[in-house]
Amino acid sequence: MARTAAVWNPAQYLRFAGERLRPALDLLAQIPLDAPAHVVDLGCGPGNVTAMLKQRFPAADVIGVDGSAEMLEKARATVPDCRFEQADFFQWQPAAAPDLIYSNAALHWVDRHEVLFPRLLSCLAPGGVLAIQMPTMHDTPLRRMQLKVAASGPWAEQLSGIVSAPDILAATDYWDLLRPHAASLEIWQTTYMHALSGENAVLEWASGSSLRPFLDRLPDGQKEAFRQAYAEAVRPHYPRRPDGTTILPFQRLFLVAEKA
Ligand SMILES: C[S@@+](CC[C@H](N)C(=O)[O-])C[C@H]1O[C@@H](n2cnc3c(N)ncnc32)[C@H](O)[C@@H]1O
Repeated sequence: MARTAAVWNPAQYLRFAGERLRPALDLLAQIPLDAPAHVVDLGCGPGNVTAMLKQRFPAADVIGVDGSAEMLEKARATVPDCRFEQADFFQWQPAAAPDLIYSNAALHWVDRHEVLFPRLLSCLAPGGVLAIQMPTMHDTPLRRMQLKVAASGPWAEQLSGIVSAPDILAATDYWDLLRPHAASLEIWQTTYMHALSGENAVLEWASGSSLRPFLDRLPDGQKEAFRQAYAEAVRPHYPRRPDGTTILPFQRLFLVAEKA
């Protein structure tokens, strides 16, 4: 089942804008297009990456698409030279066939990639490009501790059954899904060593993304206790360095497909 983009907090998400921008730019650098006319930023969030797309392709009509009204409000205010539309990934239909569908750190929030990804490729204009980046952090303490803390506190019943972002597919599965319909396909993975500052840096990072579905479910009186329990649980896995920095190794999968 597709999850909806419920309550996103743009300010919390943007606390680590620098670290979150780096993979977006690395993906942008691999797009084999000079002057696409129609560009879509799917899951555009607060629009900071949409602005980068507009900078790279100034002549393009750039449209940001997102399910969250809060994120779109922020995006419209900060990127006035792009258009923004509210839609769920599975319902969205482009009015004109895009030359580029770009998606940074968004599509891992939904499952059914075996349906969604080929559909996105088929939406493109001939020779168009699908460019996607998603975290692959399911089997790391950052994510495992969320489930462990959720299952072991006074909130266990309330949080049972919550899955944050679902597991994405294996890189080879994306190859099998897209290669038959692609003129070219590049897939790669990178582990970024995000250098975070602050006392509970991993907690603050997760509070703007994967911890959000758990926090959303809790009453205000329990949110802080849950956050602190999570901070304690992840601390031994991501100890602060002697200079006070916390290093968060963060794996990401990239793919760039050109429509056949
Ligand atoms: C982590 S943010 C990424 C934002 C932006 N692409 C960036 O790189 O900063 C993920 C975005 O995906 C959106 N999203 C998640 N599930 C969605 C869905 N089913 N349909 C539409 N948007 C969704 C959220 O609203 C959120 O803005």
